[in-house]
Amino acid sequence: MCGIVGIVGRAFVADHLIEALRRLEYRGYDSAGIATLERGRLVRRRAEGKLANLAMSLRDEPLGGSIGIGHTRWATHGRPNETNAHPHATARLAVVHNGIIENFRELKAELQGFGIRFESETDTEVVAQLVSREMDQGLGPEEAVAACLPRLHGAFALGFIFSGYDDLLVGARHGAPLAIGFGEVEAGIGEIYLGSDALALAPFTEEITYLEEGDWAVLSRAGAVIHDIDGGLVERPRQRIVAQAYQVEKGNHRHFMAKEIHEQPEVVGRTLAHYVDLARSRIALPDALPFEFARLSRLSIAACGTAYYAGLVAKYWFETLARLPVEIDVASEARYREPPLDRDGLTLVISQSGETADTLASLRYAKAQGQHTLAVVNVPTSTIAREASAIVPTLAGPEIGVASTKAFSCQLTVLLCLAIVAGRARGTLSAERERELVDALITVPGLMAEATKREGEIEVLAREVSKARDVLYLGRGTSYPMALEGALKLKEISYIHAEGYAAGELKHGPIALIDESVPVIVIAPHDAIFEKTVSNMQEVAARGGRIILIGDAKGAAAAGLETLATVTMPDCDAVVAPIVYAVPIQLIAYHTAVFMGKDVDQPRNLAKSVTVE
Ligand code: F6R
Repeated sequence: MCGIVGIVGRAFVADHLIEALRRLEYRGYDSAGIATLERGRLVRRRAEGKLANLAMSLRDEPLGGSIGIGHTRWATHGRPNETNAHPHATARLAVVHNGIIENFRELKAELQGFGIRFESETDTEVVAQLVSREMDQGLGPEEAVAACLPRLHGAFALGFIFSGYDDLLVGARHGAPLAIGFGEVEAGIGEIYLGSDALALAPFTEEITYLEEGDWAVLSRAGAVIHDIDGGLVERPRQRIVAQAYQVEKGNHRHFMAKEIHEQPEVVGRTLAHYVDLARSRIALPDALPFEFARLSRLSIAACGTAYYAGLVAKYWFETLARLPVEIDVASEARYREPPLDRDGLTLVISQSGETADTLASLRYAKAQGQHTLAVVNVPTSTIAREASAIVPTLAGPEIGVASTKAFSCQLTVLLCLAIVAGRARGTLSAERERELVDALITVPGLMAEATKREGEIEVLAREVSKARDVLYLGRGTSYPMALEGALKLKEISYIHAEGYAAGELKHGPIALIDESVPVIVIAPHDAIFEKTVSNMQEVAARGGRIILIGDAKGAAAAGLETLATVTMPDCDAVVAPIVYAVPIQLIAYHTAVFMGKDVDQPRNLAKSVTVE
């Protein structure tokens, strides 16, 4: 993970480096640092903890220099302290790094054999020392980097500046994303940027170029020279970025997570507008898919975390609406299990960031097996979006809060549209049922807005949840993955232990946990299996368990149970319920964490984009 940035500018760059890092903090926030060249001399400043600490230190003692690199870290090798913070430097150069150098131990031993001393526990310092040593042997900076790149194993992106070279920034991409941004040119002198993503560069540039796998680039005020993995000169296309799409402000909200929860009616509406032909009450994918649903033998889904739970909900939809057999796995397992994938199958990967290492590896595995691949992805310029045979984008806009909210509901929306298309193609869904489903889908933004009106009562309820040490979430059918998602959301931002279970599994073990101290959050719209869930609620109540029911008025009346609280949801078609019920689940986690004083947008140990396996 980690975010990297580099600037060759016309004026002092420290403030711009910090601004770019602020936009990359979603990639990690254990420590941060920058290095610049002041009159050709390398200077650096690093700080443990959030970027704010580094910014404060720079306010007290600014760094000059019109060229620099910066880094925000999610620790992999070595504790998150100042010594391990990037940039790592020698007398000759400073380097920032995203990813992992897998063979760093061997390289370090080799360099130590030459008497080189290391000050940090990181894999990155090995890169700094390795390139420096090549320069000691007489190579120029660019040649030294080029000579070292083939020796580095793993997935990484790197940015270098060199002592005495105030018009030279070198970047390299090998398995982790890296973009070049082109700034304004005045009197023939330009500004040029390097960054982990377009989001970081959006304030400074409207034109970017993504490096491709194995590329390395030499950046100067005159422009960029890009080499491919074999060293040959290559051109990579320039793309325009729409700065508006990269707005990252909280507006009137206290946290990005709150803003993103409340944005859901709008972004789900936007996503629906992209896929629904309102005039004909049917789903119309804007781009033709390079395979036929009717001919598919199987759908294999791979994703991580919340995106995996979206896939688990989709399994129910594809199986019931399209009678398409679905196999789903967390990507970190799928990639190493090496499942047999036949040529008539489709692999679907789901990812907000489009950079999750395990999901990307699963995609590549499926491609190597000759399968069709499809990605449901939120960042259209991401690696997954570029490598999948086809994409169906979620139009959630940038998601900054580490806990996924609006990306999840947009993933569900797109997946339901796809399942409907598959059902139509496979002859398992009548035109009339499609019309009903589309009618239900287009009510979803309104229903989500209605659901956010329960926020006041959820805030009160969250105080009860915050007292618990353990919380159980139960659900059946599509509410089962929603229970898993609810538990994940709560634990990742409040640090309360929570488990999601299929309600029917309760009696096979977890019922032993039930007592008055364990709130049991039951997700139960009044659907075909509601009665079964009521039986499970009875089992909980009989053991003194305190039930929090998230359901509709009809269900709450039919259950006739005493609950600790009932969050009454608007009536909706059971098929679209997961999208609508995402709202209370997210709000419970959010308000519990806020009440407990936790850092909701940047929970401990996490990062938004998981580019290491
Ligand atoms: C949880 C969360 C994570 C991500 C997971 C996959 O709230 O955000 O579990 O869903 O890391 O990330 P993407 O979707 O970017 O592949």
